[in-house]
Amino acid sequence: NAAEKGGYDHYMLKEIHEQPTALRQALSGRVNLDDGTADLDLEFPPGFLESLEEIQLIACGTSYYAAQYAAGLLESVADVRASAQLASEYTFNGGRDPWRTLTVAVTQSGETADTLSALRRANGAGVRTLAVTNTLGSTVTREANDSLFIRAGPEIGVAATKTFASQVTTLALLSIFVARERGTLSAADARSALADLRGLPGAVQQVLDEAETVREAAETYVDASAYFFVGRTYGYPVALEGALKLKEIAYDHAEGFAAGELKHGPLALVTDETPLLAVLTEGTRPAETLNNVAEAQTRGSPAIGIVDGTVETNALDVTFEVPSLGTATPLVANVYLQLFAYYIADLQGRPIDKPRNLAKSVTVE
Ligand code: G6P
Repeated sequence: NAAEKGGYDHYMLKEIHEQPTALRQALSGRVNLDDGTADLDLEFPPGFLESLEEIQLIACGTSYYAAQYAAGLLESVADVRASAQLASEYTFNGGRDPWRTLTVAVTQSGETADTLSALRRANGAGVRTLAVTNTLGSTVTREANDSLFIRAGPEIGVAATKTFASQVTTLALLSIFVARERGTLSAADARSALADLRGLPGAVQQVLDEAETVREAAETYVDASAYFFVGRTYGYPVALEGALKLKEIAYDHAEGFAAGELKHGPLALVTDETPLLAVLTEGTRPAETLNNVAEAQTRGSPAIGIVDGTVETNALDVTFEVPSLGTATPLVANVYLQLFAYYIADLQGRPIDKPRNLAKSVTVE
């Protein structure tokens, strides 16, 4: 009912607007700016993190894109081979070095069958496992060696929104934690990364204050035949997540691409009826992406960019602004894509909180 939705038309919109609070909860008590550390209350066996050679993140759906974002962060700050793997495609027999591997199951519900089955394979191979979840007492917390909670609060909308933000933020803290234990990140660099994370709730609030301009853009583009999303590095999983949101709730064709891959195929799909949404902020190699956007514009594609002033973006049809927060900036950009998907779906009268054929938690493989 209306009261439960806190005055919003849908749980999804309410949950999008809850992100500043969710992020404050994810960060609460975990940011130690004095020491330049993340206080995560995680205990690994002595020497385990220092000798770690590989981190495998396993997940499905939106959690997989959060995992992809996190794998990039882990590679860059913790100097460890890190990969995001679709739980439904995960095969691991412990062949490489199970004692120097950490497998992280990223799952909002803690009950996704594909993720649990992959986790069991990792456990069976003798790998140390960590659950990153929103749900206390969920199956994943009982089966993994350790648990780290994202503290987003309950999410009702089938399309994950605030939990994506909380997952990326919590995993960013984990990357700093691991990096500091391994000695691969200086206290000064850790402080700066932590300060960026601290800036997230306020930056996300600034985006939410622009919701009306996103609704206007959605009105302009609601009749498009398809929507394409592009980004590089941390902007790439955000592009994939933006496309997933739109297809889930609006039932329109939407696809995310690595920006550099546009010219290797997808450009053939581009017309004046296919708006391109591009992440063009810090942490996404925006100058290169802008070249790819220009190629699509030449073929008539309207271009919507999420920008932070890092590159000159006068040629875009629509720009949405975010403050720069280092590698956390694309996470802020993602909030524009959530709002865009929401308004495109709402203008078409879709049942946003319960899209056809989808479930909040999928408990079959
Ligand atoms: C379902 C939901 C998605 C979610 C995915 C993984 O498909 O509809 O929103 O991202 O499951 O869920 P999990 O609980 O494992 O994060």
